[in-house]
Amino acid sequence: MEQCAIGVYGLGVMGKSLAMNFIRHGFPTSLYSKSEPERNSFSCPEQENWTLCQDEATFVASLKRPRIVFLMITAGKPVDSVLDALLPLLEEGDTVIDGGNSYFEDTKRRCARTERSGVAFLGLGVSGGEKGALEGPCMMAGGSIAGWKASSTLLQAIAAKAPDGAPCCAYVGPEGAGHYVKMVHNGIEYAIMQQLADLYGLMRDGMGMSAGTIADVFRSWQKGVLNSYLVDITIRVLEKQDADGGPLIDRILDVARQKGTGCWSVLEAARRGVYVPCIDEALFTRYHSEQRAMRTRGAAVLPHTPVACPVPTVLQLQNALYLAIICSYSQGIALIGKASEEFHWDIDLALAVSLWRNGCIIRSDLLGVITASLRHGERQLLFTEGLGDLRVMEAGLRAVSIYAVATGTAAPALSAAMLYYDQCCSARMNVNLVQGLRDCFGAHTYERLDRAGSFHTAWED
Ligand code: 6PG
Repeated sequence: MEQCAIGVYGLGVMGKSLAMNFIRHGFPTSLYSKSEPERNSFSCPEQENWTLCQDEATFVASLKRPRIVFLMITAGKPVDSVLDALLPLLEEGDTVIDGGNSYFEDTKRRCARTERSGVAFLGLGVSGGEKGALEGPCMMAGGSIAGWKASSTLLQAIAAKAPDGAPCCAYVGPEGAGHYVKMVHNGIEYAIMQQLADLYGLMRDGMGMSAGTIADVFRSWQKGVLNSYLVDITIRVLEKQDADGGPLIDRILDVARQKGTGCWSVLEAARRGVYVPCIDEALFTRYHSEQRAMRTRGAAVLPHTPVACPVPTVLQLQNALYLAIICSYSQGIALIGKASEEFHWDIDLALAVSLWRNGCIIRSDLLGVITASLRHGERQLLFTEGLGDLRVMEAGLRAVSIYAVATGTAAPALSAAMLYYDQCCSARMNVNLVQGLRDCFGAHTYERLDRAGSFHTAWED
């Protein structure tokens, strides 16, 4: 076979699917995995443009110069170990792409490391799961611009396409910018998934609806502004029957796990001072769900004392979800914007968000509208035009939030969206009292509305 255009290193679920995607697009592809079972299980009999290598040296030698190596391996130390093995085999002008969920600071460090040997490093956030990888993922590239130029034709060819035909793969900025955008994508993913779960919980516990009936409510939203992958799979999960016929969802333990990118988003938001309550609540709800014994005891010793409250209509639930999702996107976009400023990445927010229009987990029709709004220059999503009458949505979110509180049915990420909305629309917050208290006990000083400067008061007479 001719020398390969790309080498995929790592043949787990994602690596295998991406490799098949390159192969099916006609790119001669070389394959390697450290794991023998992974190597042995790879097959793509309908195509001939691929070669499976048994060691790293043969793998590198099978690639056309300048070489492009696509790592699809577990994030963390394995990436450094593989670089240790590959860098001596690579030469100036070659490119290494890391398609895992790597921490953006690691990507920055790796960019600097490979650059010393003239090898370009591209940190590529890849979203869409196994099916996306196979049929068209969303890919957020960051790091070496030379690495991007060398590999963009291949990457954009296998990427998902947005409704306007644009590939959902672009270069967003230097260093760890691509992995940063992917990290925030995951933070938003956590928030929206929790908002969907909140609505499910309100319908199940507050309104006493069955999984099937709740699925019908979500289905009624599929055609409108809420049309999205996460709503689609919510219906699929709610409708799935267990082997003996009951809804499977009713038997899934209420303890949610995570792999860490949501936590990184929250830590990053704290470092940058960006308010992301929907992502926070989604993350901490997962942690708190693990306290099952404590929660169960609490339900027995302190049962809720509900207060009367009207049951929200389906339209109010829909409007609540719509505004809550906008709040989640808004928080993520603000976080990317702040990081871009502080790291001097110059990320084009409209471009970054436009990549999420297809292929990724948070893809939705709404992202087309959000992309257009950002292109008009408004960075606070809540104030953009084209999202409909947010004050109508607000009434829905408020009614649903009140209902959640009144019935004692926690709806953390929906309530956090209400809080975010209210805080974003507060001309006067209450923290002047916090400033007064800080100055009272610690002489920390305060600023005044009526005069410039820093003030301290002797609070005790
Ligand atoms: C994606 C997903 C993917 C993965 C999450 C799961 O965009 O394709 O986000 O990266 O499914 O990392 O994250 P948790 O296990 O933390 O929920």
